[in-house]
Amino acid sequence: MTDATKTATISIGGKTQELPIMQGTIGPDVVDIAKLYGESKVFTFDPGFTSTAACKSAITYIDGDEGILLYRGYPIEQLAMEGDFLESSYLLYYGELPTPAQRKKFVHDITHHTMIHEQMVLFFRGFRRDAHPMAVMVAMVGALSAFYHDSTDINDPRQREIASHRMIAKLPTIAAMTYKYHVGQPFVYPQNHLSYAENFLHMCFAVPCEEYKVNPVLAKAMDRIFTLHADHEQNASTSTVRLAGSSGANPFACIAAGIACLWGPAHGGANEAALKMLEEIGTVDKIPVFIEKVKDKSSNVRLMGFGHRVYKNYDPRAKILQASAHEVFEALGKQDDPLLDVARELERIALSDPYFIDRKLYPNVDFYSGIILRALGFPTSMFTVLFALARTVGWISQWKEMIEDPSQRIGRPRQLYVGPTKRDYVPMGKR
Ligand code: ACO
Repeated sequence: MTDATKTATISIGGKTQELPIMQGTIGPDVVDIAKLYGESKVFTFDPGFTSTAACKSAITYIDGDEGILLYRGYPIEQLAMEGDFLESSYLLYYGELPTPAQRKKFVHDITHHTMIHEQMVLFFRGFRRDAHPMAVMVAMVGALSAFYHDSTDINDPRQREIASHRMIAKLPTIAAMTYKYHVGQPFVYPQNHLSYAENFLHMCFAVPCEEYKVNPVLAKAMDRIFTLHADHEQNASTSTVRLAGSSGANPFACIAAGIACLWGPAHGGANEAALKMLEEIGTVDKIPVFIEKVKDKSSNVRLMGFGHRVYKNYDPRAKILQASAHEVFEALGKQDDPLLDVARELERIALSDPYFIDRKLYPNVDFYSGIILRALGFPTSMFTVLFALARTVGWISQWKEMIEDPSQRIGRPRQLYVGPTKRDYVPMGKR
C-alpha cells in the first residue's frame, strides 16, 4: 500500500524527484524507486540486496531484532508445536489454515502423489554411488519436468496446483531414494498409511529383510524440522526460485534452481559445520579453550550455529529444536550423549559471555538441527537435502504468489559497469 502522505525526496545534480513510500502490514516502510531511472537516469546500488525489497509478499514475516517468525501471521512456535508440516504447507501455499475437510483432501492429494514415475528410478543408476546427494537432488528434481509435462503450463492454475502438489509429495521420495542409493541399499517405496514424516523415515531407514516401526517421537522431531525450515521469506534460494520463475520457466526447473542455490555452504550447509564443530570439541572440558579461540580474531574460528544475518535475537526455531533434541535423545536412550552436553554447555557459556551478548550472537536453527539429524541416523551429506525437501513448500508458495501477481515482470537487475569503454578490435597479427 502506498501512503500518499509520505514520500522520500532524492536530489541528483540539482534535480529533485519525489519517491513514493510504501507501507506493509508490519515491518519497515519501503521507498518505491521503480520510476527512478525513468525520471532521473540513475540506478541504485545494493549488492547482496541488504536494503532492497525485490517483491511484495504476504507469506512469511521475520523480525530479526525481536526473534519473530510468522507464516501467514501465525507464530512459528505455535505451528511447530501444535500443528504439523502438511498443515503449515497448506497454510503457506493457500494462505489460510485448512478446515478439517480441506486438510483431509490435501493430505489425501499429497499422499497419492508420492510415487515417482518408474522410469525415473532408472536415472539413479546413472549416478556414481559416492555422488553428493545434493548433486543427485538437483538433477532428479529438474528431471521431473521431463516426466510431468502435463503440469508445466504455468498459465493454467490447475496445472500450477498439480505441479506444486507433485513436488511437495515427491521430494521426500526422491530424497529418500537419493539416500538409499548413496548407502547402497534397495529403494523403499512410499506407504500411504503413514504420515508425511513417518513415510519419509520409513523410506530412508526400512530395509526389505526386517520390519521397521517408525518411532513416533522421532517422526514428530522430523516433522518439526520440516515445519521450521518450510519458509524464510526472500533468502538466496527463494530469490533464485522467483528469478528463475519470472522468465516463465516451469516450476520443476525453478525448484531445481532453488536447490542448487541452497547447496552453498553459506546457505544450507551451516548445520553440517555446527555438528562438525561439536564433534571436534568433543567434551565439555574443552569448551573454554574453544571459546577463547572464537574470541581471538586472528584465529578465524567462529562459533558455528551462532549468529544470523537477520536474527539479532534468539532464532525462534533454535528454541524449539533445543527441546526437540532432548526428546529425541531421550527416546533413543542417549541422554548422556557427550555431543548434547557439549551443545548445552556451549550455549550456556556463550549466552552469558559479553563477547556474544554485545554482538547479539544467539543460537540459530542450525545449532541443534545437525545434532537431531545425526541422532535420527542421517549422515551429514544428507542434511542439506532435508532442508531442500522442507523448503520446497516455501519455494513453491513464493513461486505461486509471484505468478499470480498481475504486476509480475521478468526479474532483470541492473549493474554499475566498471569494464573497458568502447575500443576497436585489434587483429591477431597486431597483438
Ligand atoms: N562466532 C564468533 N563471532 C561471530 C560469529 C560467530 N558465529 N558471528 C558473528 N561474529 C562476530 C564477527 O566476528 C563480528 O565481530 P566484530 O564486530 O568484532 O568484527 C560480529 O560478530 C558481526 O559479524 P558479521 O559477520 O558482520 O555478522 P553477519 O550478520 O554478517 O553474519 C553469519 C551472520 C554469517 C550467520 C555469522 O553470524 C556466522 O558466520 N555464523 C556462523 C555460521 C552459521 O551458523 N551460519 C548459519 C546461519 S543460519 C542459516 O543460514 C539457516
